[in-house]
Amino acid sequence: MTWLSWFLPSAFGLLLLLLLLLFRFSNSRSSLYLSEFPDKPPFAFPKGFLWGASTAAQQIETQQPTDWTAFEKQVRAEKKFDQIDVGKAKPGHIHHFGEFPNEVIEKKTDHDARFAEDIEAAAAMKHNAYRFSICWARLFPTVTQKEASEEGLRYYDAIFDKLISLNLEPSVTLFHFSSPAWLWQEKDGKRGWERLDALEHFGRFVQAVAAHFGDRVQQWCTLNEPMVYLYNGYLEGLFPPNERRKGGPRSIAHLAVRLLEAHTLAYDILKADAAKRNKTIAVGIAKHTRAFEPYRNHAPLDRLTARFAEQAFVWDFLDAIHTGTYKMTSTPFQEKIPGLAGKMDYVGINYYGRFYLESSITSPTSFQVHSHDPRDPNELKSELGWALYPRGFFYILQTAHQRYQRPIYILENGIDCRALDDTLRQHFLVTHLREVWNAIHHAKADIRGYFHWSLLDNFEWAEGFGPRFGLLHVDYNNHFQRTPRQSAALFTQIIQNNAISPEAWDTYHSPPNR
Ligand code: BGC
Repeated sequence: MTWLSWFLPSAFGLLLLLLLLLFRFSNSRSSLYLSEFPDKPPFAFPKGFLWGASTAAQQIETQQPTDWTAFEKQVRAEKKFDQIDVGKAKPGHIHHFGEFPNEVIEKKTDHDARFAEDIEAAAAMKHNAYRFSICWARLFPTVTQKEASEEGLRYYDAIFDKLISLNLEPSVTLFHFSSPAWLWQEKDGKRGWERLDALEHFGRFVQAVAAHFGDRVQQWCTLNEPMVYLYNGYLEGLFPPNERRKGGPRSIAHLAVRLLEAHTLAYDILKADAAKRNKTIAVGIAKHTRAFEPYRNHAPLDRLTARFAEQAFVWDFLDAIHTGTYKMTSTPFQEKIPGLAGKMDYVGINYYGRFYLESSITSPTSFQVHSHDPRDPNELKSELGWALYPRGFFYILQTAHQRYQRPIYILENGIDCRALDDTLRQHFLVTHLREVWNAIHHAKADIRGYFHWSLLDNFEWAEGFGPRFGLLHVDYNNHFQRTPRQSAALFTQIIQNNAISPEAWDTYHSPPNR
């Protein structure tokens, strides 16, 4: 009996301690939608703040010989246009793709013919910066060429000329999800980024870009959302190469390493080019972020899962650049990447809201990710079903600042809201920018710019043309005509004031009636 009376309370104590530790090292779910700081507007941004919008080549330009173009053609031929649910694409499909004429599929937004008009619109909206990507396959359409295509270079030259003539600072991305189709031809039993010569080819592309455009670029982004690319391409089957590898995240660890090597290589090439020009540049990546929270706040496993998933999905890759070693959370995988440590002049943040993680006690390693809470009919969400969560933006920016102590640029932040009178986007803009301001003032984050996703409606990958993220509406039934949405004017007003005015705050910070 004596031993039992000793054991019982201590077992209880142990359990309590365990639970306390569990709650300490897990994510909790917040009932707050906005951060609670008492400040009153105006909320003014630092001098010299960059204001602009982002795009990516495959989403707005005429089809080039890329892996995505090959996938789009295959989807058309096989008529794979389904989805699983709202905002849940089906592997190997592009939602509603069949409803659009060939011309739209080929030209996307007809930006090739209208880039001058688009850049003029950005300038008229008072943007002072513009983020876009250079299509690798446009410069290197064939595997054999050693020099970049003249035609491809001329296309981007004209874009740079236009940007510079209108005083828009270019922010250039090198890999935004698409790569040349030829990279996917098997060589030594490997395809794509796994090919032994992948880095040699990528290096040649980056070298050509640096040599030709390096005089005009100060801000570079080597990779856009590497983890989204790997999850969607190799685990979910949603992006080319449309694979669903067995073995979970561990099966893509070597690919993450390859992308980290690609980043190191690109960083070194760009820096060497800038040094030759006696120029200071900033090189980083764009990281997709979400606030990861438990689906059921009271469930310890949901909370723990949210913590681990956030670490794996949001921070592992950035940590790797920071430290030089990629450690894949929840797996024993660990690899040092030579020359990588510290090669991040700024942290590029893309923020898109909240994920709820639902675990299962019977199968703790598999869990569900909800992009909104299906039990809450009042939750504000975009038309893709992504929960709006401004407060999470503060959390992400604060955490990025605390972890890396580097300048931060927001390279993407936006919402699928389709109406021309897009009240929800206006609310989104004001509340998210207020959280940026909070992060600058209360977390002391050194945030230097904000790019809205996107300048114009475009091809939303496996979701097709349905979702509308643009400040400019594109009419696919009427010669791609552009019309600014209401939010475009609000964004202009914020840019002109370099602040959220009391009037803008009072009008838009409360959730609109739905
Ligand atoms: C990507 C964009 C995409 C946007 C909206 C980001 O994940 O970088 O290409 O269109 O989110 O889904």
